[in-house]
Amino acid sequence: TGKQRLLVVANRLPVSAVREGVESYRLDISVGGLVSALLGVKEFDTRWIGWAGVNVPDDVGQRALTKALAEMRCIPVFLDEEIVNQYYNGYCNNILWPLFHYLGLPQEDRLATTRTFQSQFDAYKKANQMFADVVNKHYEEGDVVWCHDYHLMFLPKCLKQYNDKMKVGWFLHTPFPSSEIHRTLPSRSELLRSVLAADLVGFHTYDYARHFVSACTRILGLEGTPEGVEDHGKLTRVAAFPIGIDSDRFTQALELPEVQEHMKELKERFAGRKVMLGVDRLDMIKGIPQKILAFEKFLEENSHWRDKVVLLQIAVPTRKDVPEYQKLTSQVHEIVGRINGRFGTLTAVPIHHLDRSLDFHELCALYAVTDVALVTSLRDGMNLVSYEFVACQASKKGVLILSEFAGAAQSLGAGAILVNPWNITEIAASIGYALEMSADEREKRHQFNFKHVKTHTSQEWAATFVSELNDTIVEAQLRT
Ligand code: UDP
Ligand code: G6P
Repeated sequence: TGKQRLLVVANRLPVSAVREGVESYRLDISVGGLVSALLGVKEFDTRWIGWAGVNVPDDVGQRALTKALAEMRCIPVFLDEEIVNQYYNGYCNNILWPLFHYLGLPQEDRLATTRTFQSQFDAYKKANQMFADVVNKHYEEGDVVWCHDYHLMFLPKCLKQYNDKMKVGWFLHTPFPSSEIHRTLPSRSELLRSVLAADLVGFHTYDYARHFVSACTRILGLEGTPEGVEDHGKLTRVAAFPIGIDSDRFTQALELPEVQEHMKELKERFAGRKVMLGVDRLDMIKGIPQKILAFEKFLEENSHWRDKVVLLQIAVPTRKDVPEYQKLTSQVHEIVGRINGRFGTLTAVPIHHLDRSLDFHELCALYAVTDVALVTSLRDGMNLVSYEFVACQASKKGVLILSEFAGAAQSLGAGAILVNPWNITEIAASIGYALEMSADEREKRHQFNFKHVKTHTSQEWAATFVSELNDTIVEAQLRT
């Protein structure tokens, strides 16, 4: 093909493997915004390099998985259990993830984490080196290598050490926090320096990019320019590239008989009640307890709504080996149980909470029949669920209640009702407002968001990033 070759490197491959036999695997589509967005990118000759989410210690098993993944243009990086524990569960998801989302470590973890920090950071670097080895093996001259997310902040440096001609971009799918937060990390400087080895560094919003640049100026003492960060005449370009979704995939799915059938069932099931929807990985950044408590407050204060509204919360299990996620699961179950006990009747409960993922068609149907979607993230890089909901609402024109702390608030802010997720009174009032909003106002708000979601797609996002990366390299060559 005449398409540009693109190596997408991310910790999580678009499919996750479950081993079913010595040489057989089941491959499931992975959940998360990174995978959803990148699966919508079609104009490149793309190969994925990443972890398949499974421990395969034996050669036979590794060969079989490599072969199965090759059909999907995926190349596995094999990480053993110890590395996964220290790098993925530990450094990535117990340290970087909460920190980048402005959630401190839980009290009881603070000292323990301080003690294990160094060994986890070492494992992080080692894991990044393992990704780099696989990239290097599959790299061909002219390839664009696009590294993704907080798992791989060391990768740009490892790659450039192999080959300083490699075109390397790095994109962060989470917020980048204020430099005041970043500077608490013992590994603050090393992380920044290795990211700066990339030619282009991208973020969802202008704020995150600005935070990154000020971390580099304040912590490393480098010079920040409107273009990026400069170190002894070498420029690392830094910019905002707001991600989007493959909106056509959703609008087309709604036409399928299977999806129409799901919609019909859902409408019958919830006839006479307004449907409110939450779709999140069961993650502490998503503000799920806050959302449910606000819904409780709404029911408390609006008794006439009690039998006329239902909240469907899809909570996809995620990172189950990290203790904080286990605690969150039981916390959410407890709150849901209490509220259903309090407001449920013999025939109906106010909250349907599902601990599982839905397949794509079920999800589309659910988005389409929803009256009010609730996104209450305490922090969120972008939040694609809000985009997907909007894409599926062409006929219903439902209302989006959206946290001001999600990156999406900067793009869908004019159409959504923005809330501070920490303010339960405000969310409860917004639920009332959304449920009673006039058709006119819903129409206007929807049109605004729909237009944005339709035009700012994941294809466009990727094309812009890659062309900016190519331009950056040409400009750098002109300067020298
Ligand atoms: N998702 C999914 N299956 C589900 C629920 C959600 O594939 O059962 C997808 C959803 O369609 C969306 C992604 O998971 O594309 C979540 O992305 P988002 O940016 O909202 O949050 P993240 O999980 O990346 O933090
Ligand atoms: C977020 C991160 C992704 C990650 C996804 C799912 O979207 O930005 O990098 O893949 O969550 O989390 P997991 O740990 O299962 O890959």
